[in-house]
Amino acid sequence: MRRQMVAGNWKMNGTLQSVAELLSALKQQALPSSIDVVVFPVSIHLLEAKQCLQGADIQLGAQDCAEQFELGALTGEVSASQLSDLGCTYVLVGHSERRDILKEGDGVVASKFVNAHKAGLIPILCVGETLSQREQGLAVKTVTEQIDAVVEKNVDYLRNAVLAYEPVWAIGTGLTASPEQAQEVHAAIRAHVASYDEDVARGLRILYGGSVKADNAAELFAQQDIDGGLIGGASLKADEFGAICRAAGN
Ligand code: PGA
Repeated sequence: MRRQMVAGNWKMNGTLQSVAELLSALKQQALPSSIDVVVFPVSIHLLEAKQCLQGADIQLGAQDCAEQFELGALTGEVSASQLSDLGCTYVLVGHSERRDILKEGDGVVASKFVNAHKAGLIPILCVGETLSQREQGLAVKTVTEQIDAVVEKNVDYLRNAVLAYEPVWAIGTGLTASPEQAQEVHAAIRAHVASYDEDVARGLRILYGGSVKADNAAELFAQQDIDGGLIGGASLKADEFGAICRAAGN
């Protein structure tokens, strides 16, 4: 059985004060102990978040890490090992906002994924197709190519890693993939990874992301190959995020 996960991607939101308030409200929520709950504040809020989370069963992740592994001359970046040193357990790599707006290619994303792995972090590799790719029937081809950039480094890097399927057209738009559309891609991803290594594929947690809310989470998480969610907007409200976590715990 794969353990379900609900991850809150806070993106470039919050202040020191609002982070403390959100986490204190989240700690009041009845979160199921059968799932992993992780929050991803901006990097300069990680230390505050770590302090707020003391004693809580909520883990900490970063939204990105540097392409370069060695510490040194790379102004403005944060290395995977520094995130690990700070107490992060997870790091997102390849979020579509970074791929599209900051022009990160598959090769850069794969290097970040490997760096996270080397630093002892669990990388969450985000993949997903644009609307025009979906309309051209290229959804599965797009996401499997994004995954293959990591597999080319070594399929074993996917062991105990996490993938997040996030159709770009569903992120922050209020449009959610239907449970059937999401399951179809999740199953295709698992079958693709199984073609390299069945054991890795069986253990791989694949989260769905893209306008997940309390009222659509349960039917998405009920799908066989959906192992939880990566939540953006709805993770900024403790009640809503708590309800999504409970939907994953049922
Ligand atoms: P959303 O974002 O839930 O606001 O659509 C998801 C994400 O970008 O991870």
